Amino acid sequence: MSESGVTVGVFDSGVGGLSVLRAIRALLPAQGLLYFGDQAHVPYGPRSLEEVRAFSEEITRFLLRRGAKLIVVACNTASAAALQHLRLTFPQVPFVGMEPAVKPAAETSRTHRVGVLATPATFQGALYASVVERFASGTTIFQDTLPGLVNEIEAGRLAGAKTRRILEKALQPMLAEQIDTVVLGCTHYPFVIPLIQEIVGPAVQVIDPAPAIARQTRRLLEQHGWLAQNEAAGFLRFVTSGAAQPFAKILPRLLGENGPVEGARWNGSNLPD
Ligand code: DGL
Repeated sequence: MSESGVTVGVFDSGVGGLSVLRAIRALLPAQGLLYFGDQAHVPYGPRSLEEVRAFSEEITRFLLRRGAKLIVVACNTASAAALQHLRLTFPQVPFVGMEPAVKPAAETSRTHRVGVLATPATFQGALYASVVERFASGTTIFQDTLPGLVNEIEAGRLAGAKTRRILEKALQPMLAEQIDTVVLGCTHYPFVIPLIQEIVGPAVQVIDPAPAIARQTRRLLEQHGWLAQNEAAGFLRFVTSGAAQPFAKILPRLLGENGPVEGARWNGSNLPD
């Protein structure tokens, strides 16, 4: 096991994956973490699976060139569109992907009625269909895509009137259906948990998968002997395909800490260094 371990690459369409990065950082403070936010293309949710797959492959190449050895796809949409493809294309690279946490929700719901919040692309993907088929028989699922919410969160409007309206419109009909569990199937949504909890009340559990993703990242690092030991060597670096300054400004609010932010530019379908 090396002192400094290896760099973990983490990506999302924008700031959403920071909810996952926060959990990884809390669990693995000694690890080097390189985050890519594809803000030039956010939101991914309304795009085709093919398009998101192409972005995901190119971002993975970028992160690998920058020294990442393990990739966390900190985006449900990119996981739905590309996880299988990425594992086939980069067989030497361990990937941690995301799927809506329907399994723990179905296991713990007492009303057997669960709300799932995710993007249109995530709901379209085969991954979601397979999770529902495997784990949710006997559970009634209510779905919503929360149109516009990702943009509000990207803009840092975590408790604004529009953010509240979007959430109420989705959650109130679900509450009328007696759901007792809400699954956050998009990594942007944990940033509005306080508002969600306020709307659904304390009796409804809200499932954020980030801690489980962090534990899976640690398991894979351990398996490969890549876990970093020396806390002083841990680092956080950021790349955005959007504007670096607004990204740097929102970081402390969403992540609770800072790090150097670099801009990257798409050149057609390529992401040059
Ligand atoms: N944060 C992403 C997810 O987990 C993508 C949201 C978006 O860009 O639409 O699905």
